[in-house]
Amino acid sequence: MQENIFPIKDTLLQQAGKEKLNGHKGLVLWMFGLSGSGKSTIARALENDLYLRGIHSKLLDGDNLRSGINNNLSFSIEDRIENIRRAAEVSKLFMENGDVVICSLVSPTIEIREQARLIIGEENFKEVYVNAPFDVCASRDVKGLYKKALAGEIKNFTGLDSPFEGAENPFVELKTDEKDLDTCKNELVELVLKEIQL
Ligand code: ADX
Repeated sequence: MQENIFPIKDTLLQQAGKEKLNGHKGLVLWMFGLSGSGKSTIARALENDLYLRGIHSKLLDGDNLRSGINNNLSFSIEDRIENIRRAAEVSKLFMENGDVVICSLVSPTIEIREQARLIIGEENFKEVYVNAPFDVCASRDVKGLYKKALAGEIKNFTGLDSPFEGAENPFVELKTDEKDLDTCKNELVELVLKEIQL
């Protein structure tokens, strides 16, 4: 807790009011998984689908956040924790505005994701494990990062020399080496529509 800081908690217009205006509840979908697992691709398709349905959403992507608000952070464990803390705090602001927040961040450890859950609140935090084996992500290598990491040109690479822990009981698990993009996206759309009903 910060000293000498007095956050306003009883604003006249609260989350429920914003949700009423939007016609749906706010929610955070926390998509996590290895680089190249398909998080951002699914997240973008999901955001577009929700938009076409008139649902207010906000996509927060690790690579994009790291180009702005988080551009002073590295890939050490400490900085990843700070990266996720900021992303979760920003998510919470959008959620309180009644938006469906789609987060797409590696979020490699159980502890890191628990931190996000604590910030956002159990009820509104939905963990989506975008799961593809390391070898599959490495063979896709859309950004060419696996090639560099395997050649030793990138240090602390998730799944190689930096840890990645899956989830045992995520809200949903998407095995992207078994299901295509549309199937994954549609599964999430269905769940979101159910969860955000007023
Ligand atoms: S997190 O671990 O802190 O959650 P975040 O999602 O913000 O990671 O960023 C991951 C993205 O940064 C990857 O998709 C990849 O494009 C890029 N990246 C660059 N270096 C690394 C690295 N060492 N480990 C993982 N991803 C990296």
